[in-house]
Amino acid sequence: MKRLVVVGSVGLALACASVSGLATERSAVEPVAAAAQETTSTLLDGVFTAAQARRGRRVYSRDCASCHGPEMKGGEMAPGIAGSSFMVFWTELPVGSMFERIKVSMPEDGPGRLTDEEYTDVLAFILDSSDYPAGETELPADKAELDKIMIVAAE
Ligand code: HEC
Repeated sequence: MKRLVVVGSVGLALACASVSGLATERSAVEPVAAAAQETTSTLLDGVFTAAQARRGRRVYSRDCASCHGPEMKGGEMAPGIAGSSFMVFWTELPVGSMFERIKVSMPEDGPGRLTDEEYTDVLAFILDSSDYPAGETELPADKAELDKIMIVAAE
């Protein structure tokens, strides 16, 4: 299965290394800071609400279930998208990466067709279905904010 994971870009500095005429000076090329993500919380901190997950369930039924199955277990047409066997591929990545991945590629028959709020709600439903705890604040419909939340294994 092809897996598209959106993380920061690496390697621009390589282009500078070949500039000629500076041989006497020490290369000014600095180590590439590989998109140091500033995460401030994890999925164990209650980063979505139960009400948000319920809204996400409606979005899921309408726009995702036809391929991923009523229980997110997948089907002949698409893989399962909940539970530890799915989440394991995403651990140590920010939630923003999963948001972006879903937004650019799903629903497969019309990527990007939902609102950011709907994508975020369905993400909350995926997390709820994967045994992460609900909390007091909703998952924000904002990639930069979602990038501050680290995906870790459920307890
Ligand atoms: C028309 C069928 C179809 C619909 C509708 C659909 N998907 Fe998918 N989805 C797929 C297929 C096929 C794949 C596997 C190919 C791929 O990864 O792009 C996939 C892959 C995924 C993955 C990545 C799985 C992995 O293991 O990396 C996620 C997450 C996902 N879908 C979420 C959603 C969500 C959320 C919705 C509803 C908003 C949705 N999909 C709607 C067909 C569909």
